[in-house]
Amino acid sequence: MEENKTETHEKSVIARELWFQENEKEFIAEHSIGATIRAGDRTAETTDPKGGYREGGFVTLKIQKADGSFDPLETTVVVYSAKKKVLGEIKPEDLEGTPLSQKTKTALIEKLTRLYGRDFTDNDTVTIVRFEYADDLKEAGKKILASLQTFAQNDLLELKNGPFRLAPEYKPSGLTPENIKGRPLSFIIGEQPSEYAVSPLMWNAEFKMRGSNGLFLPVDIAPDKKGNLKEFIDKIVEIGNLVFRVLTITNPYKIDALQYFKNLQERYPDRVDLSEDALRIGATNQILIGPDNKFYVINSDGRGMANSIEEFLSGKNRGNLEAKHVGLVGAGGAARGIAYEVAKRMGPHGLLTIFNRTQEKAVALKAELSSYLPQTPIEARGLNELPGQAKEQEIIISSITEGDPLSDSGVYKTLPRGILIVDANYGPKSIIEQKAHEAGRDDLDIHDGAGMVVEGYIIASQELSRLWKYEVSREVYREIGFVFGYRKRAASS
Ligand SMILES: NC(=O)c1ccc[n+]([C@@H]2O[C@H](COP(=O)([O-])OP(=O)(O)OC[C@H]3O[C@@H](n4cnc5c(N)ncnc54)[C@H](OP(=O)(O)O)[C@@H]3O)[C@@H](O)[C@H]2O)c1
Repeated sequence: MEENKTETHEKSVIARELWFQENEKEFIAEHSIGATIRAGDRTAETTDPKGGYREGGFVTLKIQKADGSFDPLETTVVVYSAKKKVLGEIKPEDLEGTPLSQKTKTALIEKLTRLYGRDFTDNDTVTIVRFEYADDLKEAGKKILASLQTFAQNDLLELKNGPFRLAPEYKPSGLTPENIKGRPLSFIIGEQPSEYAVSPLMWNAEFKMRGSNGLFLPVDIAPDKKGNLKEFIDKIVEIGNLVFRVLTITNPYKIDALQYFKNLQERYPDRVDLSEDALRIGATNQILIGPDNKFYVINSDGRGMANSIEEFLSGKNRGNLEAKHVGLVGAGGAARGIAYEVAKRMGPHGLLTIFNRTQEKAVALKAELSSYLPQTPIEARGLNELPGQAKEQEIIISSITEGDPLSDSGVYKTLPRGILIVDANYGPKSIIEQKAHEAGRDDLDIHDGAGMVVEGYIIASQELSRLWKYEVSREVYREIGFVFGYRKRAASS
């Protein structure tokens, strides 16, 4: 396995091309690609494309045929480890499971000399890179997630005896600048985000890719200890941008958090910037702390969902949300944000129909939306009316806590081809694809909430980078999208 040496110096650190001999095809297909050794003083962290492989990064490969030409088929591998070693200190276990494992040090040095056309000595530093064959990007994504999780957990462990006794035992008294070790900190706060939230993974991945020493942690606050929420945010406000960057708020505190910052704004108008969207939706899920020590309070739920839908539509040359007929199931916290943004984007020629189990909530939401967007046609119906109405929709969004609103009443049979179905839930909580499959409707276009969560993170990340004046490359977003099974075109940054 030899790396081609004509790499370009493009900015991307994501897709790089390695070329393999045809007789290695089988070896690659056998899952474990093994290892290659790169010469030079290179690390896994660098953003220099010549500088090495980043752990968790995707690498694109092409197979070289016997005649020297390249198979047009590309395959993707994941770098699951990249360790720097001084040649003289390499031990047999460092090469275990690689095609070089049986080599003596002398044979290894000879091979490197032959491959790279220069002399190697014991003092040379090499990087041992291990790849995993990634036929299925979702599976590969899970592996990367697992490694990022370990990264996040290690950091959590490090802080275990520090200020962050994560709730319910959480005590905010330890939160002082002295014991936070100078790392910019961010949190996702909710009832139990430590159990399920992907925000720490996305943000910590971004920090790692950017070479920032920021840290994003979940903070669980039990509803019966709700007072801790206020105390916690009070501390953050007191210490401010010396330490903190992002507060992501999740259930059940999105409304309380908005109220907190409305109160704060009354006392300190210069320290809070409340977005019109958050005020109209009546909740916040993202708060960014700027270099001016101001708290920028936004809501990315609706925009996240709308951006992901428009991404799917544009991929199919079906335009955007303007003038579309959209059915939204649910009228809870997430649905409020989605309804507002979708109604805003569809304009006067679209139609938004809100279906909710408790119809009064749909009616109340419609009344509220119509007061902001009087030109947009909006209807409110009970969930029992969905079967009769489903085929009139171009897009159906499910934003309910669990289950599939389409399966129980046999709606799948009535749906025309070309309809787009999007679930706000993702991972095991999203059962829509499975239910459609059981109903024999594999032809439908179904997406889970991975797009919404990735797009919501991108919105907050771009807002933070705008405030602090740095850039996040398109590739970082693209790769984080890949990891979550959301293959998206890179967002502009
Ligand atoms: N992907 C993302 O980025 C993202 C972001 C935010 C939320 N979410 C997900 O979106 C979902 C909704 O969250 P939320 O904050 O809006 O929750 P919420 O405020 O508690 O609202 C729950 C909604 O689900 C409905 N519902 C609950 N159980 C139902 C059932 N068995 N049958 C029919 N309808 C039912 C409720 O109807 P009633 O009004 O009749 O009770 C209500 O409309 C959650 O699963 C959440 O994880 C995803």
